[in-house]
Parts: sequence; structure tokens; C-alpha cells
Amino acid sequence: MLKTEWTEKIKKLKQEKNAVLLAHYYQRPEVQDIADFLGDSLQLSQVAAQTNADIIVFAGVHFMAETAKILSPEKKVLIPDPDAGCSLAESCKASDFKKFIDEHPGHTVISYVNTTAEVKALTDICCTSSNALKIVQSLPKSEKIIFGPDKNLGNYIKSVTGRENMLVWNGVCHVHEAFSVEKVVALKKKHPDAKVLAHPECKEQVLLLADYIGSTAALLAFSAQDGSKRYIVATESGIIHQMQKRSPGKEFIPVPSSNALDGDADDSCGACNDCEYMKVINLEKIYLSLLHEQYEITLPEEVRKKAERAILNMLHL
Ligand code: 13P
Ligand code: SF4
Repeated sequence: MLKTEWTEKIKKLKQEKNAVLLAHYYQRPEVQDIADFLGDSLQLSQVAAQTNADIIVFAGVHFMAETAKILSPEKKVLIPDPDAGCSLAESCKASDFKKFIDEHPGHTVISYVNTTAEVKALTDICCTSSNALKIVQSLPKSEKIIFGPDKNLGNYIKSVTGRENMLVWNGVCHVHEAFSVEKVVALKKKHPDAKVLAHPECKEQVLLLADYIGSTAALLAFSAQDGSKRYIVATESGIIHQMQKRSPGKEFIPVPSSNALDGDADDSCGACNDCEYMKVINLEKIYLSLLHEQYEITLPEEVRKKAERAILNMLHL
């Protein structure tokens, strides 16, 4: 079936069922194009908290749909593919995180939203890449902090704020961790006029080469407002669809991962910097999700309530 046919079928079902489709910037272009709301993880959690639709279909990964369910327990929240996981959330098991917290009493626990509901339930304040800096800075300088699970984001915040009392969990996102430092250097050499845009989940050596560091929404806004004509983009390649739409006259070059084939720095990437969990969702799965109301996110109420407190602490700051 053609993409336009799936799109029409999805539109019709959404209307019939009073459903809303939320999509993250890393989704396939055709999914981004039919979303009712498109955004980064912070924006999408805000929309999920406010929507009056009966059904939320989340074109993103599991922790994002779970966050929507935590904030809107009375709504039916669906994820079109239950295998849309996240390596970063996987790198922090609730039982291990609890042990770590118990071993370090007296710390305020800040967790990135890229975590399971069980980890959020152990957390005092959630954060996303958009607001992590603001949230850490809202606490007194003397406060002892546990930050999880992303070590790159945590160490970046630690270096910007100069916080000594911050323990950082040793987790990473496999996509952002894999960007090749050598290929960023080669691309900069080949395109000296280009600015490097990087997500804070990238490793330190990549962040040191960046002209601008921010969440997906922040990178997008920067690329639209900035005066340069060319950008080297160190985050999942899905965001380039929106960058290109907002700035049709500019060039966006994805940074290859270290696993990409060797060759010319900017023609050896292909889909090497895609998040396979994000890309597992497609139009057909969204249609089937709406049709059969699958796969529903459910949570034990006790976990949901504790996790909600940590997310609301973030949204109220
Ligand atoms: P954002 O918070 O920038 O949307 O990023 C989410 C994510 O999964 C990054 O890999
Ligand atoms: Fe998780 Fe990384 Fe994929 Fe983001 S890009 S959803 S952090 S695996």
C-alpha cells in the first residue's frame, strides 16, 4: 500500500476513536509528517499531560509511551511496536539502581526520562536533555546528587556546573556513544564553514568539537535561527528531516558512527546513525495499533504514582 493510503486510513481512525498521534523527532519522516504533535521528549511529555484525547498513540520508544501513561493514567496509551526499547533505559535496571542509591544515602536522585517507570519511582526529580542543566542548577551547590543513567549527559552537566558532589551512573545510548570522533574531525576539515551540532548524549570527545550542544528540539531551533549554511549533525539522523524542512536552503551532514564503512567522511554513513528502536515503527504498525488498540501500556498503580511525582517535580520546576 502507498504511504498516502496508510496516512488516509490513520487519519480516519484517529478521528473515529478520538485518538492523538505523538511522534518523536527520531521517527521515520513519513511518521513525523502525520503526527498531531512532534517534539523532543520534554515537549511530548507536556503534551501527554494535557491532551483530552481518549487514546494516545506514541510513535517513539517504550519509556516515552510509559511517561505518557504515568501522566495520563485514565487514557489508553498505545505503542505500535512493543519492541521499541532504548539501550540507555536498558543500561539502568531498577534493582541495580536501588542498590546504588542505598549505598549512597543523603543524595537527591535525578534521572533522565530515558528510564523505566520503576527507575523513575526511585527518583526525586526527572529531567530531559532540554532541562537537565536547569534542574541541577535549581538545587543548592552543596546538595549531593545521584545522576542517572546517561554518563555523557551527566559528565557534561558536571563540567558545565562544576558540581563536585555529583555521582553519575555508568549508562550510555549505543547510538550517541558510537559517533566517530575521527569522522567529525574529517568532516570539519572538509567543510570548514560548517557548524557542529551535538546532542549531550554524545561522548565527551565529540562534545568538545561541537559549536552547539542541546536536546533535539534545541538543535532544531538553533539550526533554523543560525546564519550558517552547513551543519554537521551528531545525533540520530531522524532530526535532519525537520531541520531540512525548516531550512530548505541549508545542508545537514549526518555524522557517521565508528561502525560505518570507511571512505569519504560524508558518504559512508547510510543508516549507520539510526536508532533501530525508533525506526521499528512505521505507518502500517501505527494503523494496526489504532485498529486493534494494541499494544497497551499498563503499570502497577503504586509504581505509577511514585514515578508521577518525579515527573511532576520536573514539570513544575
Ligand atoms: P530528547 O530528550 O532530545 O528528545 O532525546 C531523547 C533521546 O532519546 C535521545 O537519544
Ligand atoms: Fe534510546 Fe539512544 Fe534510541 Fe534515544 S537514540 S531512544 S537514547 S537508544
